[in-house]
Amino acid sequence: MRKNCIFSLFFATIMLVFVSCNRETPGLKDVFEKDFLIGTAINPYQVLGKDARAKPFIVKNFNSVTAENEMKWERIHPKPGVYDFALADSAVAFAQKNHMSMIGHVLVWHSQTPDWVFLDSLGKPATRDALLARMKDHIFTVVGHFKGKVKGWDVVNEAVNDDGTIRKSKWYQIIGEDYIEKAFEYAHEADPDAELYYNDYNNEQRAKREGVVPIIKALQKSGLRIDAVGIQGHWHLDEPDLNELDESLSSYAALGLKIVITEMEVNVLPTPPEVYGADVQQQAKYLEELNPYKNGCPDSVETHLANRYSDLFSVFMKHKKDITRVTFWGINDGYSWKNNWPIVGRTNYPLLFDRNYQPKPAFYSVIKTAKEK
Ligand code: XIL
Repeated sequence: MRKNCIFSLFFATIMLVFVSCNRETPGLKDVFEKDFLIGTAINPYQVLGKDARAKPFIVKNFNSVTAENEMKWERIHPKPGVYDFALADSAVAFAQKNHMSMIGHVLVWHSQTPDWVFLDSLGKPATRDALLARMKDHIFTVVGHFKGKVKGWDVVNEAVNDDGTIRKSKWYQIIGEDYIEKAFEYAHEADPDAELYYNDYNNEQRAKREGVVPIIKALQKSGLRIDAVGIQGHWHLDEPDLNELDESLSSYAALGLKIVITEMEVNVLPTPPEVYGADVQQQAKYLEELNPYKNGCPDSVETHLANRYSDLFSVFMKHKKDITRVTFWGINDGYSWKNNWPIVGRTNYPLLFDRNYQPKPAFYSVIKTAKEK
């Protein structure tokens, strides 16, 4: 009798474990295993284990990681001659230990780059030669440090304005348009095996794409390595237009390039149209009416988000032979930079998992697109 009881209890426990395992959601990366890598931005809080749930969650769902800030110039090379690799190294060690691709973000950009980079020792604008030498030192040191550990680099970020003209950044003003070629040349010399990307936001839109394509053609004409164009994917419920996205993916692929979606999320909050991009230097003023869901996201909005993600992933699946990676900019809603940009202090819901790591309707609509192929 007692034996029977123990056996029943044992059997019931096994069944419970079995049922709960089966109820677990699949890892996102496994769902798209045959299609493209699935990445996420990570931060030191997660990597250093301060949020105990983060690491197992990342390992389960993603096979590629990008340091959200730790490889940017201001962090990794804060002062002349001073390099600080500690936090980036721990991100790379985490990626290696868990067999995830590490993406290098970012070498040459107008944001999160200290002012001294563009000045001489007297505080006057640096000369072209001095800035090129500084760029070369930075790229050789950073890419050299991670040689063999970083799969690919965002070499130049956001060189083009939304209207397709070249951005008049300090890089452009001091060096001239060939700063882009130089950056790619140095990056390739520093690690000939690393993939190299040109990365931008809104470059799935026609006007900006028409500015990006000639830049890529010029790099190719000069015989420089470029593997993929990165589309950041800081998107909205109503933008971009799906046909335009579809057309842009075809245009980039026609250049013989792969496409990587590098920083995806879908903003659900009302946002002033002038900040419908992702220039981190822009800011807008906090207004209560621009923060409507601070006590929770209505089901109707989560459903809208799910449909939007489904539409976007359907376009990705159509182009899966050309897309090699889709990276989300954050692991769950609580970690998204969209809670603080372009307006500080809002509560946003732009990702597939909620603040408690639970899959949202958008998660299920995304994995459905993999099954429909
Ligand atoms: C953002 C980070 O998410 C924030 O934590 C940081 O304060 C600002 O930068 N385009 C990029 C990313 O290439 O590096 C930016 O990341 C978002 C826009």
